[in-house]
Amino acid sequence: MLSVTIDQSQDFLTLTTSNGPRRFHAIWLRDNAQDETTRSTANGQRLITLRDVAPDTQIAAAEVTPDGHLSVTFTPEGQSISYEIPWLEANAYDQRTQETRGWLSHQTEIWDALLASDVPSGDFDALRKGRAALRDWLGNIVRYGFAKVVNAPVKPGALFEIVDLFGYVRETNYGRLFDVRTEVNPTNLAYTGLGLQAHTDNPYRDPVPTVQVLHCLESSAAGGENMVVDGFAAAMRLKAETPDWFDLLAAHCARFEYAGEAAVCLSSRRPMIELAPDGELIAVRFNNRSCAALTDVPFEKMQSYYAAYRRLGEIIDDTAMEVTFRLEPGEAFVVDNTRVLHARKGYSGEGTRWLQGCYADKDGLRSTYDAMMRDTSLEAAE
Ligand code: FE2
Repeated sequence: MLSVTIDQSQDFLTLTTSNGPRRFHAIWLRDNAQDETTRSTANGQRLITLRDVAPDTQIAAAEVTPDGHLSVTFTPEGQSISYEIPWLEANAYDQRTQETRGWLSHQTEIWDALLASDVPSGDFDALRKGRAALRDWLGNIVRYGFAKVVNAPVKPGALFEIVDLFGYVRETNYGRLFDVRTEVNPTNLAYTGLGLQAHTDNPYRDPVPTVQVLHCLESSAAGGENMVVDGFAAAMRLKAETPDWFDLLAAHCARFEYAGEAAVCLSSRRPMIELAPDGELIAVRFNNRSCAALTDVPFEKMQSYYAAYRRLGEIIDDTAMEVTFRLEPGEAFVVDNTRVLHARKGYSGEGTRWLQGCYADKDGLRSTYDAMMRDTSLEAAE
């Protein structure tokens, strides 16, 4: 079943397995050698630079060995290198389909209000023990971009214990944490019924804080529910409705700014819908309060850009897109701030509401999750 053929050019080979044929270039194979002169046996890091590989590297010989490896001999180097075939299959780049603009990672699942019946959530004590409960909760944040925590301690600063589950706090000019404390005073109507449009936090930072944690300490006021909207779902809906508007918001930078306190002047120039060069949807930035004057959209496109911006906001405001939940003391939620927008509904009546928030970084969260996914002992131990 396993076979290998070398192209006449000697620039690439074709490895055929039960999954079909896959082509690999000589230069790619040589650069990705896993032998001990190319990769550190201690930490897996590459020991060579591309300069150490001859630019005219070609394949002199290739065979599937009796023990099931692929052995390749390179010219002019003359070195033979052995490859694990499952590794080659896992890293094959041949026959990748050309994706359109706005595709999503297979690890991502977009959602709307229907998710309200099954809000991803984890019990703090179970999460603190780590293992499968933590892995599955982190997996939900990777998949949906947010998850709740229940039964966390009700004490100031306890949100750091939630961050400790997966990563590190990102300190900003707002401090290591910030208090969101509202005392509802019926004599001052300005402080009642104040809701906030769904937004991503701090788009004026570069990079933005990629994770936000909000933890509830007091909640005796009526209302004030928290709400989340999947920014990826909103962007994909805009794309389905009016592809040109999706393209406009992805093709031109918006500007965001915050200079609301002394000695602070934060500004960024980034699109509201951010795509990777191959079209993958990788981030959404949306925040009416910190959007600065838009100056990077050509004159002839500005009117349409505003129509697209308006429509994206209407989609975000559509209750069919939102998941609403009330945080009780000791409950928190974690959001991927590059994707999921959050908001607060208005308050009414008497009482207090006190939340503490902080930022963290998604790379730490992903690292914790991916390391757990590679830990084969985890499944067996549960
Ligand atoms: Fe916010």
